[in-house]
Amino acid sequence: MTASLRVRDLCKSYDGVRVLDRFSVDVEPGEFVALLGPSGTGKTTLLRCLARLADPDAGEIYVGSHAMHLLSGRALRVARHEIGFVFQQFNLVRRRSALENVLTGRLADVSLWRVIAGRFPEADCRAAFAALERVGLLDYAFQRADQLSGGQQQRVAIARAIVQRSHLMLADEPVASLDPAAAESVLALLRDIAREHRMGVLCSLHQPVLAERFADRICEMRPSPG
Ligand SMILES: Nc1ncnc2c1ncn2[C@@H]1O[C@H](COP(=O)(O)OP(=O)(O)O)[C@@H](O)[C@H]1O
Ligand SMILES: [Mg+2]
Repeated sequence: MTASLRVRDLCKSYDGVRVLDRFSVDVEPGEFVALLGPSGTGKTTLLRCLARLADPDAGEIYVGSHAMHLLSGRALRVARHEIGFVFQQFNLVRRRSALENVLTGRLADVSLWRVIAGRFPEADCRAAFAALERVGLLDYAFQRADQLSGGQQQRVAIARAIVQRSHLMLADEPVASLDPAAAESVLALLRDIAREHRMGVLCSLHQPVLAERFADRICEMRPSPG
């Protein structure tokens, strides 16, 4: 079976300082891998490079069958659509409803005029409501994103990845701004969604206790010698 994510010998330096030094990791479908490391060890840099939001200096990145390191332009945008994102700083459109944010997961498949008109195909709307129900937010479908709690906003981002039918979810410290109870329930949800949808999840964390409790496997990031 094709891995959700395969990374080989990834290198990235900023101003001559090496942040990623031949970094490799695999994430299989349905697997929740925690990227564990203290601040400054390159977790955010790695996740940005994987989605090609930053360009690595060397190495190979495969998301499903897409060779991310070789792509640009439209092919890169299509490949990026395979990836769901959950960030520490909630990455929703703040003034839009939870439902509309989830529906943006379908954007690549929906024609532009429908988006401008705010009209999505009925099947997409059904999928979005089902995803909101799965993450426990059906009652909040029409609430503006910026009026949801931090934990609820992360759940909306997870619902968006479900309707997007992502094969890989990249989560960058998704629970760093949450209280302990909300943090645990968001991580439990990520783990369960990974299994249910055969989605690989790579999730950076800085708390070893949470990584050990929720992850199938832990990948440790160490400070690079430079
Ligand atoms: N855009 C950038 N320009 C220069 N240095 C950067 C940039 N992004 C990250 N770095 C540096 O790379 C190192 C790793 O940062 P980061 O990936 O944010 O680590 P983490 O997410 O584990 O805290 C840090 O030393 C940081 O200062
Ligand atoms: Mg970071």
